[in-house]
Amino acid sequence: MALLKIAVAAAALALALATIRAGAAGEATLGGAAGASGRYFGAALDPDALDERPYRELAATQLTCVTPENAMKWGSVEPLRGEYDWDRADALVAFAKAHGQKVRGHTLVWHSQLPLWLINGAFSPDELRSLMVAHIAAEAGRYRGAIYAWDVVNEPFTDDGNWRNSIWREAMGPDYVAIALKAARAADPDAKLYVNDYNVESAGPKMRALYDFVASLKRDGVPIDGVGLQSHFVAGKTPADFVAVVQKFASLGVDVAVTELDIRIRLPADDKALAAQADDYASVVRACRETPRCVGVTTWGITDDRSWVPSFFSGYGAALPFDENYRPKPAVAAIIDGFTEKAP
Ligand code: XIL
Repeated sequence: MALLKIAVAAAALALALATIRAGAAGEATLGGAAGASGRYFGAALDPDALDERPYRELAATQLTCVTPENAMKWGSVEPLRGEYDWDRADALVAFAKAHGQKVRGHTLVWHSQLPLWLINGAFSPDELRSLMVAHIAAEAGRYRGAIYAWDVVNEPFTDDGNWRNSIWREAMGPDYVAIALKAARAADPDAKLYVNDYNVESAGPKMRALYDFVASLKRDGVPIDGVGLQSHFVAGKTPADFVAVVQKFASLGVDVAVTELDIRIRLPADDKALAAQADDYASVVRACRETPRCVGVTTWGITDDRSWVPSFFSGYGAALPFDENYRPKPAVAAIIDGFTEKAP
């Protein structure tokens, strides 16, 4: 009798696990595994590539959150002053809606990928402030209600923990961040508002600068809901204190998201490197899972053929969970395990 009970319990457990792991085609998916831990799994997408069937299918089946890799940046949506082009951003939001996915909006205020008319416009500080606030009102307003979280401000600090120079900082000083956050709250009151940066995933001057700054925003009552850790890592060198850093940011009383994860490998990638990469992916997922306020993980692309890595980090590549033939690499199983394995 006791044996029978054990057998029944084991069968029930197996069934529960199978349910967690079952994707549309009867296989485990990244989004399904993340969902089992109450989180999302997302990726940055190129809306143009959604016309290609294998890409679209991976995006539709694996993800529960999507981010436009470039389509919502200022240079994309307003290449000429006053002439907006929302087509690609709209397409991505429509895709997410059709598949029940969240959208992380990226990004409203950044020093990079700005339109030339803005960079070369010789605007006064007052004009720049008005332009920034109007841009936020236009873009966050257009997608009001459709965006789960906005990277309102991207990359405000330098690696040594100083304010990064930009037209925004030059015009308004560090206050530009609070001004942007308030404008975003007004434009879309339900979106979670984030500050997002890289090289803040390990203790150091930049991480401390972001931590102290978010603490000051909270003290001053500025609307800030989350910190985005971009997490562009190198296989075998994922920060050992990542979990501590995630928890430290969460202790400020904000959400934390891994927003641009990729783990690059020095090419050519052999089996050993792919295994090390899989371990690193799992450790990032575990760090998130061990932090109640870590809401989800987004990778910067899905497949290696469409990653920004080879063109930005010479000699590196193979940074994403699926290879250039859209086949899962060892990282995929490692991520799924990271979300679903029993806590140690
Ligand atoms: C990158 C895109 O992936 C590239 O296609 C583009 O050429 C440059 O920008 N941090 C960010 C992202 O916040 O917006 C960047 O995306 C990668 C680094």
